[in-house]
Parts: sequence; structure tokens; C-alpha cells
Amino acid sequence: MPDSDIVLAGKNLNKCYVDKGKKLQALKDVSFFLKKGEILGIVGESGSGKSTLLRHISCLEKPDSGTLLYKGTEYTGKPPAFAGTFLQMIFQDAQMSFDPRMKMKKAVVEASNGCSREKLSHILEAVGLDEGLLEKKAGNMSGGQCQRMSIARALCSDARILLCDEVTSALDVTTQAQVVALIRQLQENEGLSIIFVSHDLALVSMLCDRIMVMKNGECVEEGETSKVLGNPQHEYTKELLDNLIE
Ligand SMILES: Nc1ncnc2c1ncn2[C@@H]1O[C@H](COP(=O)(O)OP(=O)(O)O)[C@@H](O)[C@H]1O
Ligand SMILES: [Mg+2]
Repeated sequence: MPDSDIVLAGKNLNKCYVDKGKKLQALKDVSFFLKKGEILGIVGESGSGKSTLLRHISCLEKPDSGTLLYKGTEYTGKPPAFAGTFLQMIFQDAQMSFDPRMKMKKAVVEASNGCSREKLSHILEAVGLDEGLLEKKAGNMSGGQCQRMSIARALCSDARILLCDEVTSALDVTTQAQVVALIRQLQENEGLSIIFVSHDLALVSMLCDRIMVMKNGECVEEGETSKVLGNPQHEYTKELLDNLIE
């Protein structure tokens, strides 16, 4: 694979938290890459370090050691606003990420760095939301609408990379399927590169081109979805698969 296909990479990322005097290695020598236009799934049980990794990629936190690269160029310690110009993070609880008193129009456009009305219309259409919802506040929208709006907000910013952290976990099954279909469509039609973090292996296996399996802050296995699931090498991946089949 030519290096030029890689939009985002991390090399040997380490992060140790100290909580009440106790050390916890949340990232252990984690390396990854994301190719242009692909969906990389990161799967692993709660506490395995998935969110920590995303926070580091988006510069919300700094690693103790290791390197992050965007199109081959290292980026470090910049504020999230810098990261916002090329990548955007979408969280599990979309409702929480909006000011409940602010109208959607203001929340979305404010985050977008001057997105045109035309572009906003196009994005809302792409995420399947009625423009009338821009007049509503987060508190008056459903969980699914809020999640779509948070994706719309990320798209308004011109981001070419989306980091999705358990974005469907708070949604009912039908809405979950719609958001997954939307993410797939954004990858196919807009050529976005996406990291999709979830504890749900079934979901990740449906959606992602490649999978990375994390356990206790380590990447224990990585590869094409069909290969990892068809012939898992690590005991932990086998366990996850067994749980899925049961
Ligand atoms: N700010 C923090 N301070 C101390 N420990 C943390 C902090 N953030 C995460 N952790 C710990 O790091 C580990 C990984 O957490 P996290 O990345 O949230 O896992 P996941 O997203 O896979 O559920 C957990 O043991 C968690 O308790
Ligand atoms: Mg998490």
C-alpha cells in the first residue's frame, strides 16, 4: 500500500493516567493507520482505551510518547480547533454536546467556520434532516435527530475525517441502522475517512473495512474485517466472536 493513501496514523502512542496515586496505562504502544476513504473500526470492551485513543487523535489530550501524523506530517499539542480543520469527533451522547438553550441553526453554523446556506442545505439533506429543525433547540429533538445534527455539524466544518465514538450506542435499533447507513453513505459519496469506535462487534463487522481490536490499552489484532473475523489470531478476538455467535 502506498504511504500516500494513508491520511492519519499514530505510532507507538503511550498514555498513563494517575488516579488516586494508582497508575493506569490507558494506551500501550498503540499504532494505527487510516486510509483515505475507508472506515476503520475500533472494537474492545469498556475501558480498553478506545475513547482515550480518539481523544489523543483529536488533540484533546497529549500522549506521554508517540507520534501522530496527518498525511505524513506530524502534529502535536495543537488545540482542537486545529484538529477541527481536518477532523471532527462525534460523541455518543449528541444531546449533551449541544447547548440545550441554543437553536440548532446557531449551534451548527457557529461550529462551521462560515458554512454557506447552500452547503448547509445540502448537508442536511445528506443526513436526512428537515431544514425546519434548525429552528429547534437540542432539548426539543429526538436522540436520533440530535445524532444526525451532530454529524451535520461535523460535516459543515469541511472535515475529511470523522472520529465516531459509540455514536449509535444511545439510539434505538431502527435509528441505529439509519445512522450506520448514513455513515456508509458519507464514506461512499463524499469519500470521507472514518474511525468508528464501538463495543459492538456485530455493528463494526457490518460497517468497517478494517478492524482494530483493543484490550487493556493495547491493540491486540488488526486487519481487514473479513480476515480478522474469518481467522482471528488473538484469544481475545476469538472470545468477542464467540460472544457474538452465542
Ligand atoms: N482522565 C482519566 N483519568 C484517569 N483514568 C482515565 C481517564 N480517562 C480514561 N481513564 C481510564 O483509562 C481506561 C480506558 O478508558 P477509555 O478510553 O474511556 O475506554 P473505552 O472507551 O474503551 O471504554 C479506563 O480504565 C479508564 O478508567
Ligand atoms: Mg469509550
